[in-house]
Amino acid sequence: MIELFKSIQLDKESKTSLYLQLFNCLKELIQDGTLPPDLKLPSVRKLSEALKINQITVVSAFKQLEKEGFAYSKPGSGTYVANSLQAVPESLPTTFLDELYQNDDISVINNDRIKISDQTINFASATPTSDLFPVKDFKLVLNEVLDRDKGSAFGYQDSQGFYPLRESIAEILKRSSIHCNPENIQIISGAQQGIDIISKAFLSQGDYVITESPTYTGAIAVFKSRGAQIADVQMEKDGLNLNILEYTLQKFKPKLIYTIPSFQNPTGCSYSNYKRAEIVRLAEKYGAYIIEDDYVSDLDFENRGFSPLKALDFNHRVIYIKSFSKIFMPGLRLGFMIVPQKLKQQTIEAKHTTDISTSGLTQRAFDLYIREGYWDQHFNFMFDIYKERYFETIHALDGHLPKEVTYSKPGGGLNIWLDMPYGFPVNNLLKHASSNDVVFAPGRIFYSGNCPQSINNIRLSFAAVYTDQIKCGVEKLCAMIASLLDGKDLYQSIRIL
Ligand SMILES: Cc1ncc(COP(=O)(O)O)c(C=O)c1O
Repeated sequence: MIELFKSIQLDKESKTSLYLQLFNCLKELIQDGTLPPDLKLPSVRKLSEALKINQITVVSAFKQLEKEGFAYSKPGSGTYVANSLQAVPESLPTTFLDELYQNDDISVINNDRIKISDQTINFASATPTSDLFPVKDFKLVLNEVLDRDKGSAFGYQDSQGFYPLRESIAEILKRSSIHCNPENIQIISGAQQGIDIISKAFLSQGDYVITESPTYTGAIAVFKSRGAQIADVQMEKDGLNLNILEYTLQKFKPKLIYTIPSFQNPTGCSYSNYKRAEIVRLAEKYGAYIIEDDYVSDLDFENRGFSPLKALDFNHRVIYIKSFSKIFMPGLRLGFMIVPQKLKQQTIEAKHTTDISTSGLTQRAFDLYIREGYWDQHFNFMFDIYKERYFETIHALDGHLPKEVTYSKPGGGLNIWLDMPYGFPVNNLLKHASSNDVVFAPGRIFYSGNCPQSINNIRLSFAAVYTDQIKCGVEKLCAMIASLLDGKDLYQSIRIL
């Protein structure tokens, strides 16, 4: 039987990703009856060896077959051919550019001026694709929780969060040198909700918040929606500019400093140890609290070993917020915060008035997921995938980026921030790239006020791009950049959006 699979021809030079090619071949073999219903497909290892391709490519192809109803899997046994007559029709592709939504860019997308399709190489989204979600394992723990907890999983829950989950999280945190008590952990429905709850609890109309400039657009939107004024401080390669930070603290007396110290979104920069200690010291000196948004510090591909601010927080100024969305399933809406004792009660009240509690079923299932060892296993799986994508992106950029464009290698995270030369028409590039099936996030959307004229960065995220698409996507993008730098056709032919 393996001989049949060996005869599958995949074209490594093709613009279609290898996993899609494999998926299409297998789908055809299923549809024409060559592979009959209930036939066991070769194992991922055997097929990857037979076709001399990466195991992840085979896993992705199998997952796509399952998603579209051409295959099914039996836990611990393997993947089997489904009855293709029951295959579900493919739904229309809908891709949500997670961070363009805050801006006028969404109208650009909605008005069909930027098209996202199945073919699009999406460097704009910093979110994992759904084929990587551990649905099968999560289903197992969900079922176990339903049997174990029955109706109590569906009653109103403790607003602070399911206690055993808080215990599991406190245990995991020890690995990042954060030693905290489950009593200081607040479960939230995603980091976005955490930022909102803290703002709701502690900001009044007109209060100042310091943010990095540029920063995560979702945080800017929260602070603005709470009527806060944003004082932004320039982000440098090793963290905030400390002189400007101190000046801003003195001048505006902000209640909060919002920071993403490791692999910052969007710049990918990380704070030096010195700046980590200094920002905590300055917050204490000027009576501000820090929101430390840790969305991907654990994706540390070059072992830089950063210490979270929370681990240096001896005087309880840091509110640590952790998202699971980049590793796990963002739609589950799960995250947590560590809140200083003094702020705890107000935080619980704000959470209660927001949604009473995060879903009990989700919390209980996630707790079991951690306790049964699935979390560590899945983390390692995602780490390896992201790491491969990171190095593939760096390698492709080093080989093809025109010399006028510069960038710093972040060493981890999900984003790479390209510095285009002064006057470079990023909007033209975006328009042209999207009509050639490549999209990215223009740097200007990450600024809270009017973006300075001199800013013309672009953010490339590799989270949602398959490794075998990266080279092709980067090459296409670099060729378009080179063309624009040469002042060729694109300047003339593309109207600025
Ligand atoms: C820096 C940062 N913080 C928070 C979030 C929101 O995460 P969650 O899905 O946990 O709400 C994101 C999402 O992209 C992010 O980039």
